[in-house]
Amino acid sequence: METIATPSQPGNPRKFPESFLWGTATATTQIEGHIQNEWTDFVATDGGTCRIACDSYHRYSEDIDWMGRLGVNSYRFGIEWSRLQHAPFAPLNRNELERYIDQIDRLRAAGIKPMLVLHHFSNPHWVNAVGGWTNSKTIAAFLDYVRKLVKALEGRIELWNTFNEPDTYACLAYLLGGFPPCNKWKLHRFRKVIGHMARAHQQASRIIRTESVGGERAQVGIAKNWTFFHAYKRFSPWDRLTAAACHYTFNKFVLDAFMGESRRHASTFIGLNYYGRVRFHHFSAMIPASGAPVKRLKDFGFVCDDMVERYPEGLGEILTYLQRKFRLPIYITEHGAASEDETFRERDLLNNLGALQRAIAQGVDVRGFYYWSLLDNFEWQFGYSKKFGLLSVDFKDPRLPRKMKPLGEAYSKICRANAL
Ligand code: FCB
Repeated sequence: METIATPSQPGNPRKFPESFLWGTATATTQIEGHIQNEWTDFVATDGGTCRIACDSYHRYSEDIDWMGRLGVNSYRFGIEWSRLQHAPFAPLNRNELERYIDQIDRLRAAGIKPMLVLHHFSNPHWVNAVGGWTNSKTIAAFLDYVRKLVKALEGRIELWNTFNEPDTYACLAYLLGGFPPCNKWKLHRFRKVIGHMARAHQQASRIIRTESVGGERAQVGIAKNWTFFHAYKRFSPWDRLTAAACHYTFNKFVLDAFMGESRRHASTFIGLNYYGRVRFHHFSAMIPASGAPVKRLKDFGFVCDDMVERYPEGLGEILTYLQRKFRLPIYITEHGAASEDETFRERDLLNNLGALQRAIAQGVDVRGFYYWSLLDNFEWQFGYSKKFGLLSVDFKDPRLPRKMKPLGEAYSKICRANAL
């Protein structure tokens, strides 16, 4: 499949580049169910657990049919490490591997190009038992897994995402306490996790590019979450300081660790997860995800989904910055909005895609866009209360029926037309 995007057709500014990838994204723990990792016993704020989730472990072929109906030509999803290795350096579990291979083959047969995520906020129990990614020994165990997986997948995968949002993972697990092991303010551990993951990324990238069959075509990158941090009042020194500290820790430090100097050549693309902005007022993060009511934020003039402030104008800014700094192709590996208001979500999507289109017209090399998410799913510490899906899932019905939402219809038209 051709992946190099060419600039949008002259005379048709609403068109996206030819061979642009239109996709949707998910993560194993959020949709599969029947998983044994640190999330299995975790109870979210709404009382939900990931034990069944969307049961995509069994229903993946139905989910692929839904993707066909959506008209996407790519799917970003994970393989769950804890299913494949029951101990460090163990051989890969044959049955589990075959299930994933079947999933990948069905995707490819449906004309849907897989983008594989190797680490998305979860680890096998035996990794957590030794301190997870705070322990440098995890690097070797992960690389052994990657090497075996790369070999087992035999050139089926061209797009590889090593780590999803290492910044979010390390922050929530070791600073804010929202993800297991729920540590708070362990800055030293946060930094260690980032350092170890960055080393693992560099070495995994080498393995993927040199050891995968057809490896010369393999493309590798992380998915970096980019949040803008601003002070609500421009002249409030303390809020400015808080915003600057967050920017330094979660954006700059993490990007430097993964892509700076010696690691500059470890990535062949940049995955960007973009949701929006966090503004601070009297040291508080003014976003629904931190508990600020959407209604109150509206009174401040903020436009938010059920998670963060929307900031489509920031998308062009960050794309231009990344392009100038790294000169690598970019995939928007996640963007989405959580809300029960589908009109709001459609407006948000169009605003962000408009910003994306302008950035491409100005020369930024963006090759794909993945909507978060295919399905309403288990949104980590918030459980099932955040509705990000293009499809809804009726979690009250044991058959977990999926249904197309209005946003799914709207997205489908964009994917099929390759245009806004
Ligand atoms: C991203 C995560 C993804 C999902 C979305 C809403 O930070 O990568 O798993 O939680 O946010």
